[in-house]
Amino acid sequence: ISPGRLIIVAYRLPFKVVRRDDDSLAIVQNSGGLVSAVLSLARNAHYAYFDPGEKVHWIGATDTSFPLADQSILETDEFIAHPVVIDEQLHENYYEGFCNNLIWPLCHYFPSLARFKDEYFEAYQLAHDFFFARVAEVIRPGDVVWVHDYQLMLLPAMIRERFPQQKIGFFFHIPFPSFELFRLLPVVWRKAVVDGILGADLIGFHTNDYVEYFLKTAWLVSGHNNKLHYIHMDDRMVKVDSFPISIDFEMFSNAYSDPETVSKRNEIRKSLPLKIIFSVDRLDYSKGIIHRLRGFREFLTRCPAWHERVSLVMVVVPSRDTIQQYQQMKFEIDQTVGMINSEFGSLGWQPVIYQYRSMTFAELLGMYTTSDVALVTPVRDGMNLVSKEYVASRADGKGVLILSEMAGAAAELGEALIINPLDLHNVANAISAALDMPEEEQIKRMTLMRERIREYDVFAWAVDFFTQMTMLEMEQTRLN
Ligand code: UDP
Ligand code: G6P
Repeated sequence: ISPGRLIIVAYRLPFKVVRRDDDSLAIVQNSGGLVSAVLSLARNAHYAYFDPGEKVHWIGATDTSFPLADQSILETDEFIAHPVVIDEQLHENYYEGFCNNLIWPLCHYFPSLARFKDEYFEAYQLAHDFFFARVAEVIRPGDVVWVHDYQLMLLPAMIRERFPQQKIGFFFHIPFPSFELFRLLPVVWRKAVVDGILGADLIGFHTNDYVEYFLKTAWLVSGHNNKLHYIHMDDRMVKVDSFPISIDFEMFSNAYSDPETVSKRNEIRKSLPLKIIFSVDRLDYSKGIIHRLRGFREFLTRCPAWHERVSLVMVVVPSRDTIQQYQQMKFEIDQTVGMINSEFGSLGWQPVIYQYRSMTFAELLGMYTTSDVALVTPVRDGMNLVSKEYVASRADGKGVLILSEMAGAAAELGEALIINPLDLHNVANAISAALDMPEEEQIKRMTLMRERIREYDVFAWAVDFFTQMTMLEMEQTRLN
């Protein structure tokens, strides 16, 4: 089997181009776990499966303001970007509509937030035509096309139809829901989605539960049965399996002693000489930000001895703020933070230090490595990389992770204090236990979690995926 190139197709390119105040252009990494993980592996794509003389190609959407002609922006030392231009009107119904007003809430168990509009599905299909056109332009026989996430579920089947021999992988970065949720989609849409995904050779999810839900859905929606995770289609075999996504462990662990991290740490310690609980996530109702605040409030009510001695530093990264539900949530967070601070705060103490902005890597590492506690409370999360990054950053072995049982990561990080974020008493108790935890126990728990992430880092995740693809190809060749 001769190696080809790795072609990544994701809704987002790894970076965006922003205009600074002085009118110059700056390149900024896009936020979210997909970009963090896939960018790490694209930067180190020295895998035996691919032609070593070729760069990774990354196909992703941009808006019309992107400087398309600037080759120095499109080609870096690590990869070549291929922008797919989606105009504003289409974007509204495709990305805000079908993707984030329908699929996202359904997959995160918020059916009441799901909006079903015909123009959403039409736009979803049309946007796929644009992505497909770019894929068709870029790919060559022997390339592996790796399609990512819920924004591109129809694409594997479109590629398969036109290029039947192409090697196609698909990875779903969010929870695949139980059939009772998925079946809420109109009949034609849900079949298109399942058949679209089944165009791939190998389909990956974060956890075994998501795999089981997808296999059941494939059977009930499209009549495709499986045998030990293999689905026999008329002309080929499809494998469905779990691959828990991870992070570049060494990068986070080594960053602990970077001079920039050390300087940030000193800065934070000087300006905030008390216990620090830290949280960072995109603005999203799936992240349980309001539940976190309620839990923290309950803790403050019950534990007056901690007043003036601890602050929650909560960074919310702007995301999808053109969507009404996200704007409403932002308003609710602003209000709740204001309420807690006015109820408990004093002249010299702010219980919640809240920032609505994105962070640089150095700032993030400064906070990860200074915080006594990381409070991660999603009510539903495919994996949650922030929890893994916190653990990997703690080369000192200290710090306590409080982690929601509703995050995919909870299956791997059992030594965290596992909580149900909807139970505010449970959250309050965990905060109190974390702040009181002796250093010896912190180190014991942290060491076990660090070993696990070190072993299954983002590169092991990618190797696992590509190895399975190669084995599947060999098996397919044998059967033919
Ligand atoms: N992150 C970011 N911008 C920031 C702060 C953090 O992109 O300002 C990164 C963070 O380091 C992590 C990712 O965003 O890699 C969040 O991934 P996670 O899986 O926790 O959640 P997602 O945003 O994908 O739902
Ligand atoms: C999650 C999704 C990604 C998405 C990211 C950021 O990680 O799995 O597909 O790109 O959130 O969301 P955004 O809407 O900004 O792309």
